[in-house]
Formats: sequence, structure tokens, C-alpha cells
Amino acid sequence: MAGVESMEIDNPPEAGGESSKPKQSSGESSKKSGTYELPWIEKYRPTQLKDVVGNEETVSRLSVFAREGNVPNIIIAGPPGTGKTTSILCLARALLGPSFRDAVLELNASNDRGIDVVRNKIKMFAQQKVTLPTGRHKIIILDEADSMTDGAQQALRRTMEIYSKTTRFALACNSSEKIIEPIQSRCAVLRYSKLSDSQLLARLLTICEQENVSYTDDGLEAIIFTAQGDMRQALNNLQSTFQGFGHVNSENVFKVCDEPHPVLIKDMLQHCVNGNIDEAYKIMAHLWRLGYSAEDIITIIFRVCKNHNMAEYLKLEFIKEIGTTHLRITEGVQSLLQMAGLLARLCKKAATPDNLGQ
Ligand SMILES: Nc1ncnc2c1ncn2[C@@H]1O[C@H](COP(=O)(O)OP(=O)(O)O)[C@@H](O)[C@H]1O
Ligand SMILES: [Mg+2]
Repeated sequence: MAGVESMEIDNPPEAGGESSKPKQSSGESSKKSGTYELPWIEKYRPTQLKDVVGNEETVSRLSVFAREGNVPNIIIAGPPGTGKTTSILCLARALLGPSFRDAVLELNASNDRGIDVVRNKIKMFAQQKVTLPTGRHKIIILDEADSMTDGAQQALRRTMEIYSKTTRFALACNSSEKIIEPIQSRCAVLRYSKLSDSQLLARLLTICEQENVSYTDDGLEAIIFTAQGDMRQALNNLQSTFQGFGHVNSENVFKVCDEPHPVLIKDMLQHCVNGNIDEAYKIMAHLWRLGYSAEDIITIIFRVCKNHNMAEYLKLEFIKEIGTTHLRITEGVQSLLQMAGLLARLCKKAATPDNLGQ
């Protein structure tokens, strides 16, 4: 979705995307604090495992690895912006300390990772001699490993075993199903889940304080609503809104994030609950004129409906209809008529005699 890029960043590494990280991010970034051009996602990237927010259980397992030094090959799987890459870098830093630069090879989706690279570059690195404290291993980080081709993954499985004396692999990916079985069985698979709203909020508040951001509560709420458990997106949206408007309130946030305003959607749903199709349609037509796609609108309708204050069974009916419409939209029927049809069905659900007693 447009608008996630921070506006005044000189050198935005595709802010918001999974591959948004400059290749070497070993924590020097924090030294440059004060230069506001630095994306906050980098400036506030934790450098120690204890600063990684959320997923406490998994992170504590990683901390044990960091302390004991007995690391298996690992896969961290989970949604974007939850700290997978960060945790792996923290782990590597904790294990290797000053040798971090020499003993870590980081390959992410922006590097070529075809079979040749796996055969040559990884092999070369694995063969290199680096003096490390006893019990420590060189680490090869394969970020966004789910975008590696099957062939390249196949080439990896034997390499992993051959060099297991000196080298450990750390893979990060969004879904572990895209990693071939033989590699999964050679690794400990750790799962990250989305961060909770309160975890996002706590982090946002800290950063707002450090950066002297002027904000309103509904502004931060809006950021959390749009980020959906993705810390990277939350920080990017915070920075974009602050740098674009100088003040973080919900109005500005939704301008930057270019999403239909949930308050409008909420009103629309309420009109449906009241069986008032005319008013509901007015809002839908308004959103349509603003240029939002059916996909954008239906996503927000679902998110708002989930938390809308209405009779439980009616909510279930609504969600069912919203789901059906979403399916049709993804199948290609993305017209205003389709959206109006949804509203009509919602109004009908709300107005059936069964529900009148409510
Ligand atoms: N759990 C977290 N705790 C603190 N900051 C986080 C966390 N997850 C993500 N971030 C922020 O988002 C940015 C991107 O995180 P990253 O680890 O690259 O996410 P991914 O899980 O997609 O690899 C980090 O630089 C950091 O600023
Ligand atoms: Mg990542």
C-alpha cells in the first residue's frame, strides 16, 4: 500500500518491504542518532536480545543459545516486522562479539542465492578459517529463505552437514512450509507471532518520547490499527506521519497510510445494523470516489467489524458475508455494485424478523 515510505529519508531502503534492511546492520546505526534522515526502524533496531519485544518464550530460548553457545541450525518463521532478522543479528552478535564482521555471512533475498551461490559462496565462507572462542561457530544467515528456489535449498542440505563442525545456519522466513522438509528436519524451527497491540504501543510511546513526537492517543491507536502487529510498519508509519505533518493524529495517519478511515467504515456498518441501506451506500460511494479499491475497503470492513459493538450472532453473520464478498473480489469481481450488494445483504441480515427482538 502506498505511503509507507518515509518522506524525508535520503536513502530509503524500500521502507516497509520485507527486504527493507540495508545489508550490514550491525548496530552502528544507533551512533548516528540525531540525524533525522535515519529511518527509525534502523535507529531503533534492538541490538540485544533482551530488547526484542514480544514472543518472550522464543526469544528466551535464543538467549539461552547466546549464553551457552550451543546453537543448532535454526529457522525462525513468522509474519513480517516481528523481529526475525533482528533477533538473528542479536544472536550472532551475542555469540561472536568482535568477530561478528568476519564470522557472519548474511545473504538476503536481494542477493543472488541460486544454486551456484550456495555451492560457491557459502562453501568458500564455510571453509575459511576464522579464530573463534571455543564452542562458537561461524554463522550463515539466510534471510527471507522462503524465496530461495527449491534447487538452491536442495544444494544447501548437504552443505549444512558437511560444514557442521565450523558453521551454523540461521534462516528467517515468513512461512516455514516453503522451506523443504530435509532442511526443516536439520534445524530447530522457532515460531514468531504477530506483536500485540500493547507491545506495539509500548514501543511507540518510547520512541515518541525520544524523538519528541507530538501525538494524540487516537493517532497512536490509528498507527496500531494500520500496522496489524507489524512493528516495522508501525515505526515507518509513525515516522512518515510525523515528518509529513509534524503531528500524529488519526486524521494524518490515515492520510499517510492511504487506507479508508475506519470511523467511516464503522458508521457504515452501524447503518447496516440499523438496516439503513441509503446511508450506508452513501459512505460506500464516497469511499469509492476517493479511489480506494474493493480490496482495500473489504479488508478494513472486516477489521472494523471484528471489533464492532453489535449482537454476537449478527456479527457472525456479517463476517460470513464479508468473507464471501472478499472471495468474490479476489476472484476478480471488484465493482461498486459488488460492494453495494454486500451492504444490501448486511442490511437484510440485520432486518430479518428474528433479529427484531434484539
Ligand atoms: N520484536 C521487536 N522488538 C523491537 N523492534 C522490532 C521488533 N520487531 C521489529 N522491530 C522493528 O522493526 C524493524 C524490522 O524488524 P525485522 O527484524 O527486520 O523484522 P522481520 O521479522 O520482518 O525480519 C527493526 O529494525 C525494529 O526497529
Ligand atoms: Mg527480515
